[in-house]
Amino acid sequence: MSKVSVSISNDFCPQTLFLYGTYKEDGTPNFGLFCWFSYIWDSELGVMACIGGEKLTKDRIHATGVFSANLVTEAILSLADYFGNTDGYGADKMDIPVETRKGAVLDVPILDASPLAFELEVAQSIPLHDGEVFLCKIRNVLANEELADDTKTIEERLQVIAPVRTTCRTYFSWDGKAMGKWGEPMRKVRSLDNE
Ligand SMILES: Cc1cc2nc3c(=O)[nH]c(=O)nc-3n(C[C@H](O)[C@H](O)[C@H](O)COP(=O)(O)O)c2cc1C
Repeated sequence: MSKVSVSISNDFCPQTLFLYGTYKEDGTPNFGLFCWFSYIWDSELGVMACIGGEKLTKDRIHATGVFSANLVTEAILSLADYFGNTDGYGADKMDIPVETRKGAVLDVPILDASPLAFELEVAQSIPLHDGEVFLCKIRNVLANEELADDTKTIEERLQVIAPVRTTCRTYFSWDGKAMGKWGEPMRKVRSLDNE
């Protein structure tokens, strides 16, 4: 097979998506959608997260030092897409029905509809020219009970939760089918909102 050089991007390298949850100054939750998320090792498993530019999520992580990262699945894709395409600085971003609870260990909002959430504490942050990398300790992993059911195979448990992946500004189902371009699934949230 011959090779070609293509423009610099991470196209065709699918990524897992997370909704970062933070509490705003007034104590209510805010969520944003993020994919620049991976894992690090420093005596224990940790997380690295890159946030580009200025956004409310970044401000609240700076202010509190903690946040949650809630796994995005097919069932919550439209909500996730809405949180990724709606600016948290706008006053009405969170004026939609969302069930949340407090983390089991940290004071972070957990999205009930996500089957797995990391409760993260920032250990170190690296400011870049126009972005910032947060290196985090995982203080807790809060998962739906069904994920801890050892009588089911890993394959069966993954098929139940069906995490979404993204590449080429497109969302993909767990079985690899396109689920819309970024900005498309959120239309369902808007139309429900307007009913
Ligand atoms: C699919 C998708 C992935 C995203 N991933 C990131 C990311 O990894 N880092 C980032 O800084 N912004 C990312 N964004 C943009 C944020 O979700 C967006 O700025 C959002 O408004 C953040 O929420 P906030 O304004 O309430 O802080 C992504 C957006 C989409 C649609």
